[in-house]
Parts: sequence; structure tokens; C-alpha cells
Amino acid sequence: MTKDKGIILRNFVFLVAFTSEVITLSSDKNEFAIDMSKVGLTHVPKDLPLKTEVLDISQNYIAELSLSEFRYLPRLKILRLSHNRLRYLDFSIFNLNRNLEYLDLSNNQLKRITCHSITSLKYLDLSFNDFDVSPICKEFGNLTQLIFLGLSVAKLQLDLLPIAHLHLECILLELEHYYVKEDARESFQVLNTKALHLVFHPNSLFSVKANLSVNALECLQLTNIKLNDVNCQVFMEFLSEFTRGPSLLNLTFNQIETTWKCLVQVFQFLWSKPIEYLNIYNLTIVESIGEERFIYPRTTLKALNIEHITNRVFIFSQKALYTVFSEMNIKMLTISDTPFIHMLCPQTLSTFMFLNFTRNVFTDSVFQNCSTLVKLETLILQKNGLKGLLKVGLMTKDMSSLKILDVSGNSLEYERREGNCTWAWSIVVLNLSSNLLTDSVFRCLPLRVKVLDLHNNRIRSIPKAVNSLEVLEELNVAFNSLTNLPGCGAFSGLSVLTIDYNAISNPSADFFQNCPMIRSLKAGNNPFQCTCELREFIHSVGQASRAVVEDWPASYKCDYPESSKGTPLQDFRVSQLSCNPSLLMATVVGTVLVWAIATAILCVYFDVPWYLRMVCQWTQTRRRARNLHVQELRRALQFHAFISYSGHDSAWVKTELLPNLEKEDIRVCLHERNFVPGKSIMGNIINFIEKSYKSIFVLSPHFVQSEWCHYELYFAHHNLFHEGSDNLILILLEPIPQHSIPGNYYKLRTLMAQRTYLEWPKEKAKQGLFWANIKAAFNVQLMLMTENNAEASF
Ligand SMILES: *[C@@H]1O[C@H](CO)[C@@H](O)[C@H](O)[C@H]1NC(C)=O
Repeated sequence: MTKDKGIILRNFVFLVAFTSEVITLSSDKNEFAIDMSKVGLTHVPKDLPLKTEVLDISQNYIAELSLSEFRYLPRLKILRLSHNRLRYLDFSIFNLNRNLEYLDLSNNQLKRITCHSITSLKYLDLSFNDFDVSPICKEFGNLTQLIFLGLSVAKLQLDLLPIAHLHLECILLELEHYYVKEDARESFQVLNTKALHLVFHPNSLFSVKANLSVNALECLQLTNIKLNDVNCQVFMEFLSEFTRGPSLLNLTFNQIETTWKCLVQVFQFLWSKPIEYLNIYNLTIVESIGEERFIYPRTTLKALNIEHITNRVFIFSQKALYTVFSEMNIKMLTISDTPFIHMLCPQTLSTFMFLNFTRNVFTDSVFQNCSTLVKLETLILQKNGLKGLLKVGLMTKDMSSLKILDVSGNSLEYERREGNCTWAWSIVVLNLSSNLLTDSVFRCLPLRVKVLDLHNNRIRSIPKAVNSLEVLEELNVAFNSLTNLPGCGAFSGLSVLTIDYNAISNPSADFFQNCPMIRSLKAGNNPFQCTCELREFIHSVGQASRAVVEDWPASYKCDYPESSKGTPLQDFRVSQLSCNPSLLMATVVGTVLVWAIATAILCVYFDVPWYLRMVCQWTQTRRRARNLHVQELRRALQFHAFISYSGHDSAWVKTELLPNLEKEDIRVCLHERNFVPGKSIMGNIINFIEKSYKSIFVLSPHFVQSEWCHYELYFAHHNLFHEGSDNLILILLEPIPQHSIPGNYYKLRTLMAQRTYLEWPKEKAKQGLFWANIKAAFNVQLMLMTENNAEASF
């Protein structure tokens, strides 16, 4: 029952589409809709929102409706109540629902209704119920907006008078409980409707006999027709009642079960009637298929459309079958969803312009060497068993009018070594999608093709050297394995390229220059690598007018590197610097240079190394002073410092060194002041060096020349008491060239080489640090003996 209903609804949609006026009953997106179908309801829910406009409570267990339930839904527009258990309905419960347009009460158990006119109703379905008497009451006459009425009736003889003045689009009469006495003829008047749909009992042989009077019926649909060789005549008589006038143009059979013989008779019968479109959905052929005598007369029929044939035949004449279809003198034939071959090349010149054999079992030998399909413009062989592209090309060779060829969804392959392909010169649209084609397909294409669909194949790249398809306008290569955008060299007129869902990571940026005619590029959902190279592409997208790039920016996202995965390309940023190696190099080199120059300037102008050395020495000295052994300090010391210098430098010693030392209370020993007369010079030197905590040497070129000074240095360094300890302070008053130091003064050379001296800075500003360094060396509280004590200790 549900299945039937589905078909009926589908066909209703078809009928409505057929009639010129479009009925807008389906709920649009902005309406407030509640779907409570299939939830086991036994009553209409109480707490529905006031604003409900669409309410679906179909397929539940609701047996009763009460007055209060819909009262509070003033905006209710669409109410679906089908497949429930309603037995009785009082239409006055809807009298406050002034917007109610669509009311589906089909597939209930309604026996009785109490009428009340709901003038807003456009769609009322009362079919598949249990009415004993016709449910048409006089109030229906007020439903002036009504366009669809579905009824469940037990006989055709209806009192349609109350609704005779309405202008309906479609009436559905469900006749499952139809009964008439044997051979009784009913009369039935179809009033003012464009479409009529009759549903018979699914399992009874067709037996309706009626005198019909139809008025301007355009569209007839019959569901559940069971025919054999005996009642075939009854059925044709029934049909002839409808086809007496010229108005019926569209005839549809759903669920028809028939013998082959009867089917051919029905075709023969209908061929001479003024019908233009014949549709058959779910055709079952029973008993046998044998040869039938038939000739197709001249016909107004334009299109025969058969979807889904089931063959329950055991004796089968293939030739009989093929001829019935191939010799039809109509323009359009569709036979889809049929698991056997039903047609071959017509014997004589054929009238077919359109053939659609979707989802059949054709192989590529069909229509080979067929020279009778010269009017054929469209051939659809979608989802069949075609394998060789070369043979498909060959098949079209003599179809000199063929414009559109759809062989999508097969298993087509082409290898180059198979040879060159031949195609009908006239082909402009070629659909090769969902096959097994590889790169080589580009060597086997009709040269005048304008629209080429190759999506969902196995193409990895588009070869550079292909036959040029100069008039190609649209190319679809989505869902392949392409790694780059193609150049348009071979497709100079390409204006629409669809290349999404491939393996493109770095699309070339010159695409837009390369393909000047491009109007639309769809390249989203590729695994873009968001690195420097991609910037140029993003830039070129930015420059191309946005309308050209389809789905931008939503479908264009980074796939790599991991850190930017999912980032829209539009938002991908990488600095100018990191993408330009020469710029990066220049920047690094530049920075280094600036640093070097700055450092050099600092060194030259501010003598930074000198300061560093001084600070370093100062810290070392302080540390050493702190670590001095107490024992050492107990030594009998008389002076803080013994100063050794050349006579030439005495002026500096007297004016600079001495005042600065003595200012800090440093007791200084000078040879001309403190040497004991009469004692040997050597003795004096040794004596005073020993009695001094440190020895200061003022180094200069003069110092080097002085032999005495050298002795002093020697003794100071080998001081018996504090050998190894750091008792020397070297002051470099003036630079001493290495070569001017005599060869045997190796001690001085070593000391100079170790650079453990303090340089005397000529600049006043630096002298503070110099003195601080000297002072640090004496930063020790020393107990010095008085001269007398010293004397005593001697
Ligand atoms: C090709 O056929 C497929 C279905 O197999 C369809 O989706 C597609 O739109 C067709 N392409 C063209 C260009 O008609």
C-alpha cells in the first residue's frame, strides 16, 4: 500500500508538472515545520508551537481527532495525517485553521465524514479509506481553491455534481474496493479536471466497463493493470472511451502486467489515437514472447517511455522482441532499467531522433555497422556493458546527425595500440564520465566536440601532444588523478573547466594567461600545498574576476603542511621574504654587514676591545685579591708597590702614577727615594721587591733598553717568597714593537705575548677605568710594618 502511494505521489508530481500551472503545495524552507511521523503517536500532541505551519503526523496510530487539537494552530498550512487509524472525521475541527491548504487523510480507515467547508483547501486527499458511500458532500462545492482531490470509491458511478463547477487540476480515484455486477455498465462523468488518476486493485484482472464522458482531460494515469489475452479487449474498450476526443495527450500506466501479445495490441491500438506521450512504469511481461502481426500506422505519438521491465517469460523469440521496438515510427524512445536486450539496428531508415537506453545490458556490439539511424541526434547508453571506446566510436560512424552521445557509467577503456578512432563528425556533446579511461583517451575523441565530460575516470595528465580540439568549450575532468591544471594549447576555445577533486597540489599560476577564453574554472577540493609556489596561483585567482573561479573560497583549502591544513587558500599568508631566496640571502648578508660595520665603528671610535680587556682584568684582579692566602698577607711587607721604570719615563711616574696611587693611600717604593745607599743595587732591588706586595713595571721602548729594569723584572717574577703568585702589574706606557725587544729578554717577550699588561690610555675619558684597574689590585687591607719595625726585622 505504501509503495503504491509512493508511486501515486510521484506521478502526481509528474501530472502537476505536466499541467501548465505550477502548484506550490510543497513546503518551502522558510515555513515552520514539525515532523512527528513514525513516532508511535496515539493522539495529536498537545503542546505544539503556535507558529506551526507544517505538521507531519503521518504513519502513527492516531484513531481520533478532537475539536481542540488544531484550534491553537492558526497558521497551520500543511497537515499530513496519512497512514493512521482514523475512522471518522468531522471537518469542522479545522474551522479555525483558516490557512489550511493541504490535508492528506489517505490510508486511514475512514468510513464516514461530517462535512464542513474549509475554503482555503487546495489539496485534499481522502483516498485509500473504507468509505461505503461516496464521501462527496455538498460543502465540497465551496472549496473553490481546490486543485487536487483524492477519493476512495467502490464504484465509478459517482455523484460528482456538487463539485462539477470546480476547476481541478487532478482527481485521484482509488478503486481497490471496486465492484460491479457482471456485465453491468456504469456511466461516469469526469468533470473539469486536467488530470485523472485511477488506481485499481493490484491483484484483480482488469474488468472495468463504463460509459465515460470526459471533458478536456489532458492527462490519464492508470495504476495496477492486469491483462491477459482475454481481457485485453476490455481494457482497450475502456481506453477508447478516453481517447474519443483530441484532448488526451498524456497517458501513463503504472504497474502493468501483461502478455506480450496484449502489449503489442495495445501499442497498435494507441498508435492511431491522438496521444503524444506514453509512459509505462514497471512493466511485467508474462507467459511468452512470440511473433505478432503488427504494422505501426502513422501516429501522433512522439515519445514512448518505458521504465523498468520485468520479463517472466519462458518462451522467448528475440527477433519478435527486437522488431517491435526497432521498427517504431516515433521520434523518442526511452527504455531504461531493463535486464535484457530489446532492440537492434532498425531494418529500414528509422525515425528515431532520441534513444535513451539507460541501465540496460547493451554491449559495444550494439548498432555496429548500423546505417539506418541517420536521424538520430541523441543516443544515451548510460550504465550499460560497453567496454571498448574504439568500438563506441565506430558505432557512431554512420549516425550522421548524432549530436549528443552519453556513454557514461560503462567500463570503457582505450589503448593507443588499438588503432585510431573514428567518430561521427557531428558529435558536439560527449559524455564519457564514470568509465575506466586513462590519459590516452585524448587521442580518441571526436574533433568537433564542444562539451566533453570525462569526470570520474583514471586520467593522470593531459598529454601535451593531442589532436587539438579547437571548438571544445566545456571540459569536465573532475574526480580524476590530475596533478596540474592543463595548458590550453590544444583547447584554444576552452571556456569552462571543471577539475575539482583531483590531485592538484600546486596549480600553475599562468593558467589564466594560458587560457584566455576561460569563463569558469572549478578547481576546488584538491590537496593544495600551501607553500611559496601557491602564492602566485592565489594571486592570479585574485586578479581573475571572482566570477570565473567557482566555489571560491569555500572549496579551496590547504591540505599541506599539517599546520595549515583546512585553512582557506584565500587566508593563506606567507611572508614575501621567506618565499624569495635571493631576497632572503640579500637580507641576511645585509644584516651581517651592518653588524660588522657597526662593530668596526664601535671598535675604532670607542676602543671597545680596550675597555673589554680592562674590565676583564679588573674583575680577575678583584677575584684574585679576594682569594689571597692569609699566610701571604702575614709576610713582612713594607710597601704596597715597588715601581720599576726607565729614567726616561720618570716624568709620567711622578706626575700621573705616584699622585694617583698615593691618593688611595698606597705606599710606594721608588728606587731613588727608598734605596738604601751603600747597599749594592742588586741587593736593594731584591730587598724592596720582597718587601712590596706588588711590583709595578712601566713598560715603554725606553724600559726595554734599560738593563736594570730588566733585572728588576726578572727578580720580581722569580720572587722567592711569592713565586707563582700574581705579583706583577705591567703598565704599557707606549707601544713596544716586538722586534725592538732584545732576543735574550725572553721573559718580557712572554709577558708581552700574554698581553697581561694594562695599556695607558692617552684619552682622559678612559683613564678613570685604568686607575680603577690599578686600585683593584690593591684592594686588600694590608698590615704594613713601619720603617722601624722593618728595621727591626732586618
Ligand atoms: C554525464 O553523465 C552524468 C551521469 O552519468 C551526468 O551526471 C553528467 O551531468 C553528464 N554530463 C553532461 C555534460 O551532460
